[in-house]
This record gives sequence, structure tokens and C-alpha cells, in this order.
Amino acid sequence: MAIRTKLVAGNWKMNGLRQDGAQLVHTLKERVAEAGGALGCDILACPPATLLSEVGGILAGSGIALGGQDCHAAPKGPYTGDISAEMLADLGCSHVILGHSERRHGHGETDAEVRDKIAAAWRAGLVAILCVGETQAQRQAGDAVETVMSQLAGSIPCAATAAKLVIAYEPVWAIGTGLTATTEDIAAMHADIRRRTPNGIRILYGGSVNAGNCSTILTLPEVDGALVGGASLNADDFWAIVRSYATE
Ligand code: PGA
Repeated sequence: MAIRTKLVAGNWKMNGLRQDGAQLVHTLKERVAEAGGALGCDILACPPATLLSEVGGILAGSGIALGGQDCHAAPKGPYTGDISAEMLADLGCSHVILGHSERRHGHGETDAEVRDKIAAAWRAGLVAILCVGETQAQRQAGDAVETVMSQLAGSIPCAATAAKLVIAYEPVWAIGTGLTATTEDIAAMHADIRRRTPNGIRILYGGSVNAGNCSTILTLPEVDGALVGGASLNADDFWAIVRSYATE
């Protein structure tokens, strides 16, 4: 079976002005160069759209990949404020985060819309990172697994392969709260997701992953990396998470 290369992805969300973004990625780039290839994981930075061009320029040739945080399903057209997958690819992106809970809850995105966006990402040659996760109320009601499985069923186009799709399991109640799921719950949910998704797919965990908890969470057998929000804005914290997979 193909080895699933670990992936540590930074989701900057709506944070960072040009100088902050440049400084952050200059530091990360230096650390990658110092580490000399012994990282044990892929690294991805997903800055806000305003910084993609600048950050992409700095990261060129660094081995750190560039990703967007959302895209529209159409390739172009009268969609004020939106960005197409083709535009992300044009800026050097290789990945795009889709279906994040902040888009599902803050912008009312449905599974069907997320599925169309994933298809758009593939049309443009991007890897889609599909986010799924239950709310606190759904977990308390015992509906966590059902919720996530229904998001997977509704959001993944039938042509999905491990090369084109990454799943990020992010319990909504763990995002930006400092709370994390128990290792048992993470392991169980990841195993369930694996049973229902293409062979060899990478399944990331997200939700308050930080320098303190990363070594416990990221070494669980079915966890293939992390989608990191808050801690990705600080070079030392993000680097500590990347180093969870250091091979020397
Ligand atoms: P957090 O965000 O690490 O700040 O909890 C994760 C995410 O929303 O992807």
C-alpha cells in the first residue's frame, strides 16, 4: 500500500497584512532549508487571498506548498468578491481548503455546494482539502459519526482519489477554542472516515492543534497530519508542529 506522506497545513484564515505574511514565510523557509530535507512531512501555507501572490513568490522553490482557503465553483463570471480555482492555480496554488466549518456555518455552504467546489478545484488541477466535523450539540446528541459521514457522502464527488483529495476532520467545537477531542475519539473518527473514503487518502486532524498537543495527536495511527489555524500564525508554534514528524 502506498505510504501516506504526512501533511501539516497552516490555515491563516483572515489574518495577516503583507509584512506579517512575508515575515512568517521567510522564517519558515529558512527553517526548512536548515532542516535539509529531514522533515518527514509536506508543508502547506494557506494565507488569505490578498497575500497569495506575495507569499507564493517568497515560497517559490522552498518546498512549502501554497493553498487557497476557498474557491467558487465557476471558472469565471459575475461573482463579485469570489475567486475561482483557476485563479488560485494561476497564483501558484496546489491546494485549496473547502467546506471549512467557518464557511459552512458563517456563509451557509451546503454539502452540494462544497461538492461543486471540489469538482472546480480538480478542474483547475488543485488538491482539495475537504473539512468535515460535528458541532458540540451533535456530539452530545451522539450524532458525531452520522454527521461527519453524511458530510462526506454529500461533499465528495464520485471521481475522488487519494491524489486529489485530503480530508480534514475538525470538530467544530474544537476550532479556535483550545479544546481538542480525546485521542480515542480522534482515532475512532479517523478510522470511520478511512473506511468510507478512497484508499490511501490523507486524513488530517484540526481544531486547536498546537505545539503542546501535537506530538500526542499527530502520532495517532490514522492521523496523517494537521490543519492548523491559530498556531500557524506563529513561526515557532507552527514549526514545532511540523517537527512532530522530524525524521532526525
Ligand atoms: P485552530 O483552527 O487551529 O485555530 O483551532 C483550525 C482550523 O480552523 O482549520
